[in-house]
Amino acid sequence: MSETTKRVLLAKPRGYCAGVDRAVITVEKALDTYGPPVYVRKEIVHNRHVVETLRERGAIFVDETDEVPEGALVVFSAHGVSPEVHTQAATRGLRTIDATCPLVTKVHMEAKRFARDDYDILLIGHHGHEEVEGTAGEAPDHVQLVDTAEDAATVTVRDPSKVIWLSQTTLSVDETMERVDQLRARFPMLSDPPSDDICYATQNRQVAVKAMAAECDLVIVVGSQNSSNSKRLVEVALQAGARAAHLVDFAHEIWESWLDGVTTVGVTSGASVPDNLVMDVLAYLAERGWEDVQEITTANEKIAFALPRELRKDLNTA
Ligand code: F3S
Repeated sequence: MSETTKRVLLAKPRGYCAGVDRAVITVEKALDTYGPPVYVRKEIVHNRHVVETLRERGAIFVDETDEVPEGALVVFSAHGVSPEVHTQAATRGLRTIDATCPLVTKVHMEAKRFARDDYDILLIGHHGHEEVEGTAGEAPDHVQLVDTAEDAATVTVRDPSKVIWLSQTTLSVDETMERVDQLRARFPMLSDPPSDDICYATQNRQVAVKAMAAECDLVIVVGSQNSSNSKRLVEVALQAGARAAHLVDFAHEIWESWLDGVTTVGVTSGASVPDNLVMDVLAYLAERGWEDVQEITTANEKIAFALPRELRKDLNTA
């Protein structure tokens, strides 16, 4: 293989989505405005680097609100929380800023609305993921989680004419539609969500990686192991024809052996990944002869969300 044939295909869009951007800025501004410590329930976004950087600036990450001293400030993460968590925080007199992504809040509203109309709600998502815990918590008596094919084959509903599916925002589009087809075969009157629950950022990053995967001997996805959308990018890359695909948090986690016999490397990143980590991967590859980088653009994203109301109020008066 000649050196000149080595190339990198760089997916666009990749990295930060509007919900992650908003959540990270929320913690940064809360630290600037109120001073440390700022407590954050769960990882603000699922990225090791982001969490470590905020921790160094004075954020304290906790699992539950009962670890936050009474009266202190706590930020809820981008993945959303159930009403029960809001109640617990209020009971302890905590000041709260809710950095739940507005596109997750949209799914919460759908769960509430269809529960009010007494539908059985089949929530397609990953067992134990914070987002589905928050969404299911909106209507625990009406929501059932459908994670695996087996779940879809065995779930039961009260009235097959009044059943709707909703989903986690960060799933594989194709896999979700497989689950829906499976459910619809059992419940032909299954209703669809009023609009896509899998968010624009998840969808766009999957489309971008699909567009280049078949040309890639190796796809490197920058993202953390607990990041649902990042893990899905690895799966989508493999399904779309990449010969190999790996998830790394940092460039130094790349194994030299992955590059054996490789000509074209695809690079992308999950929605919670700052682009400097992708640049580190490109630098790593350039040092090894992959200097030719072609960006493969499948969409231009212009979405931005306003900061949480609780914070905006104080920023305006600061
Ligand atoms: Fe929101 Fe989608 Fe990002 S739900 S946090 S825009 S991955």
